[in-house]
Amino acid sequence: MRLFLVLIICFFVSFWSHCQKNIYANTVDKIDLIPSPTKKFVLSRNYPKGIIMGEKFDWDIEKGEFVQKPNNGILGKALAEKVLKSFLTNENIKNEFRFGEESDPLWFHAPAMALDPQNGREFIHGLTRERSSEKKELHPNQKYKVQNWAIGFYNSRGGYEIGRVWKNQNVPLNNANFPPNTVSVKLLFTNVTTSAVPYLKNAPRWDAHIHKSVNKYNERKKNSLRLIQVDLALKYDAKHWLFSTFVYHDSIDAQNPWHRLICAGVATNAGFNWINPDYTTLFKKEFNDGKGMHLGSGGQLNGPVDNPCSSCIGCHSKAGYPNDKGNLDYSLQLEYGMEAFKDSKVKKEKIPKCEHSFAYNNTETWTIWTLIALSSCFSCILVGLKIHRK
Ligand code: HEC
Repeated sequence: MRLFLVLIICFFVSFWSHCQKNIYANTVDKIDLIPSPTKKFVLSRNYPKGIIMGEKFDWDIEKGEFVQKPNNGILGKALAEKVLKSFLTNENIKNEFRFGEESDPLWFHAPAMALDPQNGREFIHGLTRERSSEKKELHPNQKYKVQNWAIGFYNSRGGYEIGRVWKNQNVPLNNANFPPNTVSVKLLFTNVTTSAVPYLKNAPRWDAHIHKSVNKYNERKKNSLRLIQVDLALKYDAKHWLFSTFVYHDSIDAQNPWHRLICAGVATNAGFNWINPDYTTLFKKEFNDGKGMHLGSGGQLNGPVDNPCSSCIGCHSKAGYPNDKGNLDYSLQLEYGMEAFKDSKVKKEKIPKCEHSFAYNNTETWTIWTLIALSSCFSCILVGLKIHRK
């Protein structure tokens, strides 16, 4: 009888620990152990369970002014700059934005983006492969196509919604509705030399485990990247998003290189699009062709590493999963994570064994269950023998 009780307790304890383990289990970006002296990326996934009602934000005043005049580019720029300032703090810069290592982080990552076998997160800074820049796209001296890599962050409002969408580990919700004042910032780095792109002189540099060459997606090696672009998205009311992008330029007067950024413009999903004339002038000098840095389709806002045939709003308004049913409220990282998650389940065998393959490993759970099953059988036999002897 005592043995039976012990077994029942074991069963419940293991079942409970199994359930505990599975919270976000599938969404955890597990990085395979790669021998390296370098620090490893840790996913910031301690998503807030709720939002603080009536919370004050650094950009409340600027937002108030912009909402009064939502077609004023200068006000939109002031708002975007204020929001970016809350992310580019000295402390965050010093810690290399490694929020996953903090016990009570204010910024979060989108999960499952390591699953993509080609473009998935690398293990040093958690960057994912972006569109490559064709030759001469970034500067007339840029003679080769180059790789770009990036990482996105969400503030606590955004983190709350990401956690809610992914809460059910096996079936993430395919609808999202971010609360107002959700912010997402994305840092984009490029693999160029400063002779190819001179305005990136003194730009912040990160090491990352990127592809060996621009067109080969199956082998990676450590390489150095330079910051070129910082994207920003702010949900400024219940329905509207403001998008803005900032570009590094060495001539900008700021002591900290992370602040040598110029706002390229502002666009909203209410149809507003404004390009900063100072940005146009600055980059016309770089290109010497009278045109300057490319924008997006039809002069819509876009960054240097973005596809000139699209635009911030154009791409992001498609966010959904599956695209024809779910609506992911402008979050393409949610969409990419979900797609990669589904693909990894369907074609598990295709994921190569390297840091960007971290398909959720069931071995641990199965081992526990097998042990329980074996020990139950064994105990039954013992009890049976005891009864038989009596
Ligand atoms: C060609 C399509 C495309 C264009 C153009 C584009 N983006 Fe994105 N963006 C993406 C995709 C795909 C992701 C998710 C994958 C990733 O982050 O690597 C993303 C991610 C982001 C994120 C992280 C938050 C999220 O989950 O979506 C921000 C912020 C962002 N983009 C802002 C911008 C801004 C600002 C612009 C314009 C300057 C822009 N994007 C232009 C496709 C695009």
